[in-house]
Amino acid sequence: MELLLNTDESDELMQAYHTVREHVAQSDAQLLSIQSLAVQITPLPPDMLVDLVADTFHRSPEIDAFPLIEDMQPVGLITRRKLSMSLFTRFGHALYGRKPISRLAQSHPIIVRIDDRLVSVINRALDRPQEDVYDDLIVVDRFGKYYGILSVKQLVLRQTDMLVNTLDQRALAQKQAQELERINTMKSQFISCITHELRAPVNTMIGLAELIQFAQNSGDLNKVGNYASLSLTAATNLRALVNNILDLAKIEAGRLEVQIDTFNLSRVVIEVKEATEILLRNKDVRTVNQCPSQDIYIQSDSIKVRQILTNIANNAAKFTEHGHIVFKIEFRADQVILSIADTGVGIKKEDQSELFKAFSQVGDIKTRSHEGTGLGLVITKYLVELLHGKLYFESEFGVGTTFIVIFPCKPQFKEREINHA
Ligand SMILES: Nc1ncnc2c1ncn2[C@@H]1O[C@H](COP(=O)(O)OP(=O)(O)OP(=O)(O)O)[C@@H](O)[C@H]1O
Ligand SMILES: [Mg+2]
Repeated sequence: MELLLNTDESDELMQAYHTVREHVAQSDAQLLSIQSLAVQITPLPPDMLVDLVADTFHRSPEIDAFPLIEDMQPVGLITRRKLSMSLFTRFGHALYGRKPISRLAQSHPIIVRIDDRLVSVINRALDRPQEDVYDDLIVVDRFGKYYGILSVKQLVLRQTDMLVNTLDQRALAQKQAQELERINTMKSQFISCITHELRAPVNTMIGLAELIQFAQNSGDLNKVGNYASLSLTAATNLRALVNNILDLAKIEAGRLEVQIDTFNLSRVVIEVKEATEILLRNKDVRTVNQCPSQDIYIQSDSIKVRQILTNIANNAAKFTEHGHIVFKIEFRADQVILSIADTGVGIKKEDQSELFKAFSQVGDIKTRSHEGTGLGLVITKYLVELLHGKLYFESEFGVGTTFIVIFPCKPQFKEREINHA
């Protein structure tokens, strides 16, 4: 018959035991009930012979102790440890084999009630001499009748599990609360920004409509054309803002669907480059095509890739007055790298961390010289990440800016169908 515990296990358990003892003493600790820990095993009569008890232990390897019960009352406890220590001494068997088990049993085991508090049970069990600390306890019901056995080892292990779960849950709840607060703050900042941004073009349009009305009333129609075109610009800006906000709302709600197909990436880049040239028609800025001569096909969402490149290219066109804008596709075995580099105003180091925040047009809001909603890059970054890509940029103030998009996908090559510029 094996001894109950080896020393290593016993040391570890002892440590767990102390941790659990400290923990259960805390007022807010969640405690297992004695009733849920008790195991109802069939008790033995105190006059059963030691040999028969040894056989019973042998047939029940999962049981570490049997209670001895007489008239429903516990009168002792025999543990596997005690029995094996007594029987396997030199004359043990001859001495005890034919004797009643009550001769070897503990006559004063710890008896606890099903409604006792775990903390008092642990204290009583731990205050025993070190060698008895793991002996099982006997559980009785509210009337003092035998109910079951409580394994101290099980108690420590299960309460430790519970302790770990409670701590994990607390840490998780704290993290979730912090995250929720962060999102709430961001949302309220976002809403106050939106309100401000929406009001500005609406006020402009009202002001211009009043001017037109005034001009009509006074018969001075010279400036009406100018007012109308200013009003059109404000309305166009407002539409771009509303579209961007709707895009963001869809992203936030996770309603932006990805439609993957295989498409000609080279053609998309070239078309974005051509659309950019229209924006540059009154500027001294050239576009440069540095895409491979073969057409590159990738599997992704073509509409979103186009939107990403358009947003970046529109920024390049907006913030570049002289020089050139280079469109480039590079590839590795499992990556496609798109870049758009300009020789524009560049972005100051201190402004770079603000770039992907909503409404963050770099520089003072009142001194902005360029039209825009300040949402383009926020949306672009979301879209890139939605397609499992990464968005980077490098910029030097006064020299220029390069935006780089990396998609993890295997490119395929085909001879160019139509010869674009
Ligand atoms: N290529 C660039 N060169 C210099 N500054 C840039 C460039 N791209 C972006 N920025 C800076 O980052 C800011 C944010 O860009 P973003 O595209 O998000 O907004 P926007 O272009 O101002 O408005 P929109 O929502 O209409 O795109 C810009 O206002 C500008 O200050
Ligand atoms: Mg933009």
